[in-house]
Amino acid sequence: MCNSRISALLLAWYDDHARTLPWRVGPAARAKGIRPDPYRVWLSEIMLQQTTVAAVRGYFERFTARWPDIHALAAEQEGEVMAQWAGLGYYARARNLLKCARMVVRDHGGRFPDDHAALLALPGIGPYTAAAIAAIAFDRPETVVDGNVERVIARLFDIHAPLPGVKPLLRERAATLTPQQRPGDHAQAMMDLGATICTPRAPACGICPLRGPCAGFRAGDPASLPRRLPK
Ligand code: ADE
Repeated sequence: MCNSRISALLLAWYDDHARTLPWRVGPAARAKGIRPDPYRVWLSEIMLQQTTVAAVRGYFERFTARWPDIHALAAEQEGEVMAQWAGLGYYARARNLLKCARMVVRDHGGRFPDDHAALLALPGIGPYTAAAIAAIAFDRPETVVDGNVERVIARLFDIHAPLPGVKPLLRERAATLTPQQRPGDHAQAMMDLGATICTPRAPACGICPLRGPCAGFRAGDPASLPRRLPK
């Protein structure tokens, strides 16, 4: 099956099964042409670094209620931001969050830059987060690979070489799936598939939209992938 067909299957599944998350634009709004707010995409991606969706939800709701846009956040005192971040961990993220907000206001007129290189130059934004923001907020055809996506790709292509060495190959294969149309939805669909169906143990292959093209499913033991070198 060709890769554009795989992405089409994934996007059709996402249209019906995307998780409802506070930083996402739902299907009805999306149909009206409403785009995600880059400020909310950025804030969610920083919070989601090394942190689960379940832990992030409440923090995200509180932050955006208190600081609805980048100007409000940039004008805040560091102590207040740190206090609101308390409990989420990895506190360098909160300090960089405020630095980044101030830099976007000072150097970019309060609008997030829309390309990977300019995003990467901002505090707290590494290659993964730059790709995620470029794809989700600006529909750039970037490939976004986190642990969930690595698992989906290792199974879809039945790749047996172990982590961590196999990471570049997984990324290369993931990139072959990234569509020119709706790359942001494609990226989020890959994450949702990994989080809800292509789970580490006991994946729900019976309801997976990619079961047809999945080489790991065909080979019989998708749950054993990805392999990992013994520590
Ligand atoms: N993990 C990191 N970014 C995410 C997103 N946009 N949606 C779901 N899970 C994520």
